Amino acid sequence: MSDERVTLKNGLKMPKFGLGCGAITRENTVCVVNAAIDAGCRLFDCALLYGNEPDVGDALKKVFESQKVKREDVFITTKLPMIGNHPSRVEHFLKKSLANLKTDYVDLYLIHFPVGFEYSEEEVFFPREDGRIKLDYSTDIINIWRAMEDQVKAGRTKSIGVSNFSKEQIQRIIDIATEPIANNQLEVHAYFQQKELRKFCKDNGITVSAYAPLGSPGRREAFIGSQGIPQVMSDPIVAGIAEKHGKSTAQVLIRFLFQDDVTALPKSSSAQRITHNFNIFDFTLSTDELIDLRSLDKGEVGRTFNYLEIFEGLDKHPENPLAPAS
Ligand SMILES: NC(=O)c1ccc[n+]([C@@H]2O[C@H](COP(=O)([O-])OP(=O)(O)OC[C@H]3O[C@@H](n4cnc5c(N)ncnc54)[C@H](OP(=O)(O)O)[C@@H]3O)[C@@H](O)[C@H]2O)c1
Repeated sequence: MSDERVTLKNGLKMPKFGLGCGAITRENTVCVVNAAIDAGCRLFDCALLYGNEPDVGDALKKVFESQKVKREDVFITTKLPMIGNHPSRVEHFLKKSLANLKTDYVDLYLIHFPVGFEYSEEEVFFPREDGRIKLDYSTDIINIWRAMEDQVKAGRTKSIGVSNFSKEQIQRIIDIATEPIANNQLEVHAYFQQKELRKFCKDNGITVSAYAPLGSPGRREAFIGSQGIPQVMSDPIVAGIAEKHGKSTAQVLIRFLFQDDVTALPKSSSAQRITHNFNIFDFTLSTDELIDLRSLDKGEVGRTFNYLEIFEGLDKHPENPLAPAS
């Protein structure tokens, strides 16, 4: 077990690994959350979009009531959905998340994605027309950030950050922020290491957390098809290192991020896999192994969340985070 934490710019300590709660199946949530707690995990990465905040909230409430751990020892992250990407809707959506999670505050509130989707009173998270997501082309990330800052002042979140933001977007927020960007949550794994963006974040005191640390194997097939997408969990170099340490490739990939100062957020709906995935504190990757793992980076080819395919028309949005830097 490890309770190593990274210090955010506002002084708050964030655990160095956490449970990705997206897509955890409902019936498994209590088991999975308990397995994570028992394995020493103190960070739970949630989002209103995942649709399971109430289940995670119920499971955590039971953990706190059992006095296994206290609320203040657990770090809860959640995120503003894309239909909330408007200054007037930030408070509304954070309050919804707090009610779902049965807590008075979260530790970190992130803007899930820099592009807004059209809002309607039905609050459909992925509004569509002719099969395409309806993007809101007027997204104003600067004033959304100011509304995020108000949430810190109101005590609803201890810190705020972003997810899937580009260097240029982060810089524009830094230029006006009165409350620091604590964290940028990005796709990061051995095949897609985002070294330049991570360096930029580090230089600006912004911590990085990694979604899809295992390359998101299950989602890929369901969402965009597995054809042509590299499988980092089957990589022979990763497998060789795993064999040498008597570990699995999943454990090596999570340990790699841990040693490289990225907070990994692996997801599993299996309590057994959670226990396994967080059993990474009885071995250390050598400098040569870290060099080998760092050399696996495939750049853009390694990206599994290709938002240009997922959100058609994104390339025409002024806040498209994948636009080439000007
Ligand atoms: N900010 C964002 O835009 C964003 C986007 C995506 C995800 N996220 C966050 O990041 C978290 C993780 O991302 P992700 O779920 O896409 O990717 P991931 O953690 O890389 O992969 C999860 C997949 O790996 C499988 N798995 C887990 N442990 C395994 C093991 N030991 N051996 C073999 N397979 C294993 C899981 O299957 P089983 O469940 O069957 O074990 C699941 O299909 C999400 O839950 C969410 O919290 C954030």
